[in-house]
Amino acid sequence: MSPPNSAGYVTDVAYVPGFYPHLAPKALRHVALLNRIQPPAVADGFKYLELGCGLGRTLTTLAAANPRGSFVGVDLNPQHTAQIARDIEVGGLSNARIVTSDFSQLPDDLRDFDFITLHGVWSWVAPDVRADILRIASERLAPGGLLLLSYNAMPGWAHLQPIRGILRQYAALRQGDSVQRARDAVNYLAYMRDQKAKYFVDNPNAAAYVDTIRGQDPRYLAHEYLNEHWTSFYFADVAGQFAEAGLSFVGSLPVHTNFWDLCVAPVFHDLFRTTTNRLVTEAHKDFCANTMFRWDVYGKQPTFLPDVAARLRAADDLWYRNPKPGVQLPITVNLGVVNSTVDGGLYGTLLGMLSGRGMRMSEIIADPRLSSSTDLEIAKAVDAGVGMQLFEVLSGPSLEIDRTVAATRIAMPSAFNRAILAGEMFGGRGVPLASATSGSAITIGDLDAAILTTWLEGGSDDLAAGVDALMTKHERVINHEGKPITDPAERRSRLASACEGFRGNVLPVLEEQGIVIREG
Ligand SMILES: C[S@@+](CC[C@H](N)C(=O)[O-])C[C@H]1O[C@@H](n2cnc3c(N)ncnc32)[C@H](O)[C@@H]1O
Repeated sequence: MSPPNSAGYVTDVAYVPGFYPHLAPKALRHVALLNRIQPPAVADGFKYLELGCGLGRTLTTLAAANPRGSFVGVDLNPQHTAQIARDIEVGGLSNARIVTSDFSQLPDDLRDFDFITLHGVWSWVAPDVRADILRIASERLAPGGLLLLSYNAMPGWAHLQPIRGILRQYAALRQGDSVQRARDAVNYLAYMRDQKAKYFVDNPNAAAYVDTIRGQDPRYLAHEYLNEHWTSFYFADVAGQFAEAGLSFVGSLPVHTNFWDLCVAPVFHDLFRTTTNRLVTEAHKDFCANTMFRWDVYGKQPTFLPDVAARLRAADDLWYRNPKPGVQLPITVNLGVVNSTVDGGLYGTLLGMLSGRGMRMSEIIADPRLSSSTDLEIAKAVDAGVGMQLFEVLSGPSLEIDRTVAATRIAMPSAFNRAILAGEMFGGRGVPLASATSGSAITIGDLDAAILTTWLEGGSDDLAAGVDALMTKHERVINHEGKPITDPAERRSRLASACEGFRGNVLPVLEEQGIVIREG
């Protein structure tokens, strides 16, 4: 391929910004704890490195949400790192630093990290670059540190892998930058599918997947498919390589993937009940769930926590909270493969207890309302409840808001959040706003971002008219059932109900997480 590249990686076009909550220190720490591994302590500060941080939206947002941490991002693409340097400056992030470097030439002072993360890198780089990453993991993660690695997984990619080969070969025949080539290649793929090329006839899932690709941002497609190296991996092979580098498998994200009964149909449960080797069950789980993508957490010289008391001694600074007070049981959730139903008993009590500001695990366990359950039963129910999205994990207690008093004037104290809101408001993506309470971010939609901007600037009087004016200024349409609304009265009425939704559902969350405060 002709576009400039480093070790076969696309560098002629910038990537797309994205915030990935699985990279948050609190997420890694919770996965460690629920798997009985001691996480790094964070109260007195910690060191965090993101490898291949792209446009840095995750890095900078996490730095804003974790002021006690010191964050470093590394990327070889100077377009990416220049943008991150601007975001760091505008957001006033004194705890974030960006380094333009290939992984093979990392500055010497980047070491002893409590957390190392890399998302969207491992499957897309050359074997030599993966070797560099393993070396960094082995030499620069502190003992007891945690590493998060995401990658395209087998067997989920098995029937789609041929698509990538054809895309890349066709793109190589075309002119222009990587975005143009990716666009041309996707159109060619759709043509082959529509003309009933036999591969697509024989693989209907692959035929349907063409529409997924067509809907994706071409900058994403260029970075996803046009690199010289692109590989999907079996879990066992990756775990083997990290074991050689001195890191052990700890667990995975999302949280439900740590509970095999939440991801594997009951008919397969026998193997999981009788096999205690986690490396074996992970591989079989991927087969039962046809896993396409994995987010794995590895630890260096991890300390095993034998019981709940040891867990509480190791770390009791995460807060667990029910974000939807008033939720009624039974609840059935489907996290991809299996329906899991939660009904009454322990969960009924926990849902009530954890509404409000949330509680630490020691407080939950000591609560007299749960005296008939053992410590282990309680801890497991809370962790599995997080997996089923009944509870959220926070870095601190949620703020208590008097919902009976309507907010009028509001402010957003973080300079970083103000810059992100202004820059991303009509970006067509969610807008992640950093929260020190959650240690992560709350992502709001485009329209909610426009409502928040209007309210911050002009108060809540006649909010819908203000949002209408802002959207008109930016030439934004409002769609209903996929079609733009042209009638002004209908447009205003839709905006009025969107503003009501924001007032009732979004603003309280932003207040509880300390992103927005009331003034006056
Ligand atoms: C697919 S992007 C993912 C970006 C980011 N982690 C995200 O998910 O938004 C991969 C990133 O890794 C960087 N990268 C690839 N090979 C690299 C290398 N050898 N050294 C440093 N960075 C590299 C690329 O420039 C790109 O920004």
